[in-house]
Amino acid sequence: MSGRHLAKQQPDSFAFSKKGETEAKYWIAKYPKGKQRSAVIPLLWIAQKDNGGWLSEPAMRVVGDRLGMAHIRVLEVATFYTMFKLEPVGKHLIQVCGTTPCMLRGSGKLIKVCKNRIGEKNTVSADGKFTWEEVECLGACVNAPMVQISNADGDAYYEDLDEASMEKLLDDLAAGRAVKHGPQNGRMTSEPLGGAQTLIDKTLYNGSRAKPLKSIPNAPKAAGKAKAKAAPKKNTVIAGGKKAATPKKAAAPKAAAKIAKPKLLKKARKEGADNLKRISGVGPKIEGILNTLGVFHFDQVASWAKKEIDWVDEQLKFKGRITREKWIAQAKALIKGAGK
Ligand code: FES
Repeated sequence: MSGRHLAKQQPDSFAFSKKGETEAKYWIAKYPKGKQRSAVIPLLWIAQKDNGGWLSEPAMRVVGDRLGMAHIRVLEVATFYTMFKLEPVGKHLIQVCGTTPCMLRGSGKLIKVCKNRIGEKNTVSADGKFTWEEVECLGACVNAPMVQISNADGDAYYEDLDEASMEKLLDDLAAGRAVKHGPQNGRMTSEPLGGAQTLIDKTLYNGSRAKPLKSIPNAPKAAGKAKAKAAPKKNTVIAGGKKAATPKKAAAPKAAAKIAKPKLLKKARKEGADNLKRISGVGPKIEGILNTLGVFHFDQVASWAKKEIDWVDEQLKFKGRITREKWIAQAKALIKGAGK
């Protein structure tokens, strides 16, 4: 249930301004016949602008009548959305963004300024010029901290603020002086502080997105395509009368470590095959595969080095298993204990 209530003091009536009337008609006409209620939010917004920045109860009735809606339905919408103010506000409504990026960049200081200059949030300053409130992210985090200020001229963002620029902004608005929207620290839109850093070299960028340069002048060649510097021929004489050193052949890359087939048997020795299942990790299925490969005895397994392990791993299609389960150490222990 909404905790937002209508103001105790209400005017007797409300009427759209001429401009508001035109805008209301425009919005109503956007919806098919019988669906005019869909225009309730735009009409409430226009009514709020025409009513000094807040929605009075008579204004909601006028909107309801205009749209053929029960007044209670209009009231439900107006009390649900916090963009609709239900109490009178100052001439300038200041919305301070208090979400994390702005908070980290100093919105707490802006709130302090508002408190000192205006009073508690959602109250009207003594001179009737200001009301402030804290709101969630307004989508200008790149220039945090920022505020939105709404007044008869519209809604505008003021960004990159600090205590001093916030004080100045309030001074100028109170005095009726023109104020500049956007960043207040000289930043151009959301460029880096100090101006653009990229795409400013005309040899690299011709200023057009539509026609990028086909090739980048003076750009270093791609490593893979760069031609090697021509080596001097054998016995060439270079400046100073010395013979040019014959270039050494580049060292061939080391051969990749190979895998090797271990010593395999056609069949178990005459004393019989070892029970390879005694090696933890070897079950009947793996023992069968090992036997098929030609592995029957613990000493065969114990003799495997890395390259043989890799080969057997490949046959088992279970890379790393032999090492992980320490087959070699197990096989050696089983030989030592004569545990055949
Ligand atoms: S966090 Fe303040 S504008 Fe996004």
